[in-house]
Amino acid sequence: MNDTAPVASAATAQSITITLDGTNRSMTIPLIPGTIGPSVADIRKLYGELGIFTYDPGYGGTAACESKITYIDGDEGILLHRGYPIEQLAEHSSFLEVAYLLMHGELPSQAELTEFTYNVSHHTMIHEQLRRVFEGFRRDAHPMAVMTGMVGAMSAFYHDSLDINDPRQREISAFRLIAKVPTIAAWAYKYSVGQPFTYPRNDLSYAENFLYMMNAVPVEPYKVNPVLAQAMNRIFILHADHEQNASTSTVRLSGSTGANPFACIAAGIASLWGPAHGGANEAVLKMLAEIGHVRNIPEYVEKAKDPKSNFRLMGFGHRVYKNYDPRAKIMQRTCREVLDELNIKDEPLLDLAMELEKIALHDDYFVKRKLYPNVDFYSGIILKAMGIPTSMFTVLFAVARTVGWISQWKEMIEDPSQRIGRPRQVYKGATQRDYVPMAGRG
Ligand code: SDX
Repeated sequence: MNDTAPVASAATAQSITITLDGTNRSMTIPLIPGTIGPSVADIRKLYGELGIFTYDPGYGGTAACESKITYIDGDEGILLHRGYPIEQLAEHSSFLEVAYLLMHGELPSQAELTEFTYNVSHHTMIHEQLRRVFEGFRRDAHPMAVMTGMVGAMSAFYHDSLDINDPRQREISAFRLIAKVPTIAAWAYKYSVGQPFTYPRNDLSYAENFLYMMNAVPVEPYKVNPVLAQAMNRIFILHADHEQNASTSTVRLSGSTGANPFACIAAGIASLWGPAHGGANEAVLKMLAEIGHVRNIPEYVEKAKDPKSNFRLMGFGHRVYKNYDPRAKIMQRTCREVLDELNIKDEPLLDLAMELEKIALHDDYFVKRKLYPNVDFYSGIILKAMGIPTSMFTVLFAVARTVGWISQWKEMIEDPSQRIGRPRQVYKGATQRDYVPMAGRG
């Protein structure tokens, strides 16, 4: 390239050219620009033209779809839902308003929000036979196992909304999932402690109703603390959607085969459960309990840095954020509000977490790898202060992420270019060989 040619940046280049070294075979690959963020190289014809695949284990540099729902700038620590910054939504919005925004692309009018809220609140009960399915679980089953089983079992009850090609049935399934997942979640908790199920109340907001179903008992009235309800509303908003993370990609891949939405969301719940993903909030609390005291932090930070140890600082690091997760900042502030409201003057876990964060963020290992606290680092401390058991933390993540999963599933189903997901591989196994009868084996 001569040095007078205008230097195109990746942001303005229209294409890339790939040449097979040692041959005269090359191809021009078009770049598809995003509204914001990196362009993508459209490699759909690469195998046909040059006979090669691309290789990207963990998909760290691969776009699997076009989407208009969420945008993350990992370097700047920016998170937008349909263009609106998470900080503004967490401050001013409600979870159902964010759910509407994620699903429909625009903030609702008052009439639209009222109708959406009515539709969700009139699907909050679950089929009485589905209620009996809980009996099949051990009382000490992990609530994420119960969630996976119960949401999957919804396919066995709601046959009138399984046709994914019918927009009306897709809409009913979406309402049923958004409305019933919190009921199933709260009942998974009640079942684990042997208390009677608390039926939903349609006069309460989404967050209030969830806390009501978690805490109310039939023998006395129960009023949800409005500060805790607002904190729950904000926690749900912070967990609602996050581009093509592992569980969302699981839902999209399942949905690409035509599987019904209940089965797809059950698959998403199963994927979220892992400690590297949504299970991290539960793992953070266990890690803080194991560290136990500020004096032990240096030992654990060293363990986290040791490549031979599989110990990691849970709640730290992120595939996309190479800056502070904006959700973690809001979560830390919410943590202080909840502790103040509950008059918890000193929470050793919060002191420990803040000291751990301070030490890690000044340690070269973490600085060099751009490892910062993520959404899971503080959320568990809030939930614990609210009296929610550690085993329920990922369940709450699943309740909130259900609206993101459904929005992404809906976007995929409605995308005319959508096709079944089917990644390829680089084969490293044996070349073809003939079967050896048992007598001929060594
Ligand atoms: C969520 O994708 C999403 O958007 C997810 C999520 C969402 O809203 O859907 O944001 C929710 O899942 C948040 C992340 C929750 N998980 C954790 O907090 C678990 C702890 N974090 C790590 O397991 C890890 O950071 C991941 C899984 C989150 C990201 O892993 P990557 O992108 O594959 O990074 P990596 O493993 O390649 O790490 C790069 C380097 C490695 O060191 P080197 O090989 O370069 O020497 O950083 C190190 C890692 O060992 N590293 C850590 C670390 N995280 C990464 N070292 C110590 N402690 C950590 N937490």
